[in-house]
Amino acid sequence: MNAKNIETLKKENMNLAEKIYIFDTTLRDGEQTPGVALTVDEKIQIAQKLNNLGVDKIEVGFPASSPGEMESAKRIKNRELDSRLVGLARSLTGDIDAVIDADLDYIHTFIGTSPLHRDYKLKKSKEDIIHSSVVAIDYAKDHGLTVEFSAEDATRTERDFLFEIFNEVVDAGADFLDIPDTVGVLTPIVTRELITDIKNNFKTPISVHFHNDFGLATANTLTAIECGANQAHVTINGLGERTGNCSLEELVMALKSAYNIDLGLDTTRLYSLSNLVGRLTGVKMPVNKPIVGDNAFAHESGIHVHGILNNASTYEPMSPEMVGHSRKIVLGKHTGANAVKAKLKEHHIDLNEKQFDKVFKNIKSLGDNGKCVTDDDLIAIAITELASA
Ligand code: KIV
Ligand code: ZN
Repeated sequence: MNAKNIETLKKENMNLAEKIYIFDTTLRDGEQTPGVALTVDEKIQIAQKLNNLGVDKIEVGFPASSPGEMESAKRIKNRELDSRLVGLARSLTGDIDAVIDADLDYIHTFIGTSPLHRDYKLKKSKEDIIHSSVVAIDYAKDHGLTVEFSAEDATRTERDFLFEIFNEVVDAGADFLDIPDTVGVLTPIVTRELITDIKNNFKTPISVHFHNDFGLATANTLTAIECGANQAHVTINGLGERTGNCSLEELVMALKSAYNIDLGLDTTRLYSLSNLVGRLTGVKMPVNKPIVGDNAFAHESGIHVHGILNNASTYEPMSPEMVGHSRKIVLGKHTGANAVKAKLKEHHIDLNEKQFDKVFKNIKSLGDNGKCVTDDDLIAIAITELASA
């Protein structure tokens, strides 16, 4: 899509907020990824890098949940980072006290609002849920905290009850209203209707927290932003409960490259941060993961490599340098002569036409036999050919 179309689209279909905040929850929801547990030192290391990336807010954890969570929150606080630090709390004064003990001044408090959560998890009436939320917010505000309120499972909550509780918590002083799509059931068209309705009815800034159960978290978050959401909850590598949350790198780069909206993050740090989080959590990214996967900027087919060698934009929507990644030309059965010539040049190997033809055929036949040809393989094949001449 060319720039003119994007500008037209923006004007006609978007209602962008003046400022879009990135609320990173890698250290909280991301750490809730099954099988992941970070040490205090690891959490500090990730928090420092998120800060260097330039995220607006870092949810450091759930201080009431364990001594380690409390310690990491306190120690991250001691780093005096620029990012605003947030602690999670249920709508319970004990949980809020833990956030205060951790010396954090921004609380993310939540309570389940959907019929499923009310009836089967909390076993509370609508009135009780509103009461607990308001008491918690009153308490947090009395202690001088900034309050973000999440209606857990908001997207499966009756709209009139969602609006009722949002009205009550706004009256109690909530500073941000968060809309969790707790089990990732939204689609872009439903997101558009929901966020537009909320924006039309509330002046309080709104945040979205979208899970990825159907692979739609990034698309839905982008749609919410198009409709005026003021903040997006994201995680590095899209980590989080089950299939995870909206991925920070996907959202930020889609905004920057496809929407022309630069949030001011130092995106050249994305690849190394993704690798750090992958290493510390043990959750490795698939090769085809957008932005940070091994193949995000890898090219094999002759037609693509030919284009890339002339102008990388032919087959790349953004440059690998933008995210601190690198381009890779892979040799295999789809390889064209241009790619092999470029690789040989890179390795300072000079072949005459006859030698080149043999090397090229060799690579194709390896590819046809199901093999990928590494740079070392190519060098070995070329040197053998040179030696036999
Ligand atoms: O997905 C969710 O509903 C959450 C809440 C704690 C906001 O993570
Ligand atoms: Zn979540």
